[in-house]
Amino acid sequence: MEVSWDSLHADIEACEKCGLCRQIHHKVPGQGNGSAELMFIGEGPGADEDLQGLAFVGAAGQLLTKMIAAIGYTREQVYICNVVKCRPPRNRTPEPEEADACLPFLRAQFSLVRPKVIVLLGATAARAILGDQVRITRDRGIWVEKKGVWFMPTYHPAALLRDVSKKKDTWHDLQSVQAKLQELRGEA
Ligand code: URA
Repeated sequence: MEVSWDSLHADIEACEKCGLCRQIHHKVPGQGNGSAELMFIGEGPGADEDLQGLAFVGAAGQLLTKMIAAIGYTREQVYICNVVKCRPPRNRTPEPEEADACLPFLRAQFSLVRPKVIVLLGATAARAILGDQVRITRDRGIWVEKKGVWFMPTYHPAALLRDVSKKKDTWHDLQSVQAKLQELRGEA
């Protein structure tokens, strides 16, 4: 049966598949254009996201907004979500079992949005989708195509806030994303 946004959001709200939901204020399913050509996936909600129930609204989110604008989009034109929909305690990296438990929701989001290009923000997102062997410093900037969808692993905006020297590579990756979308639209 085809999943709908309403049933997906209800399933996320009801989910207790891992322990993360026990300590949160809100689930954070993700938001944006439900039929976007471009999707961004982060790791998991932080404190601001947990309080508001929205993905990428804190400091890293503000930088993500600038990254999206730099390639000619608004946040409303793209779809933004995370590997896990519940905030891990003290913002720790989600355990592989937590990421695995949440993955069916991400897959449902892929099938509803049907983006052409997906930007994987940081190692957690890149590993969840492309496999444990991914090393973000080595593999960022390299396109991976799966079933007609193009995946671009790059640095997480929180990593850029900690280390500005990563911005140059990230900018390069984002320009590659912009060019890929133009190419896929037949404009290049
Ligand atoms: N970091 C993430 O990975 N996701 C968010 O939503 C916010 C910060």
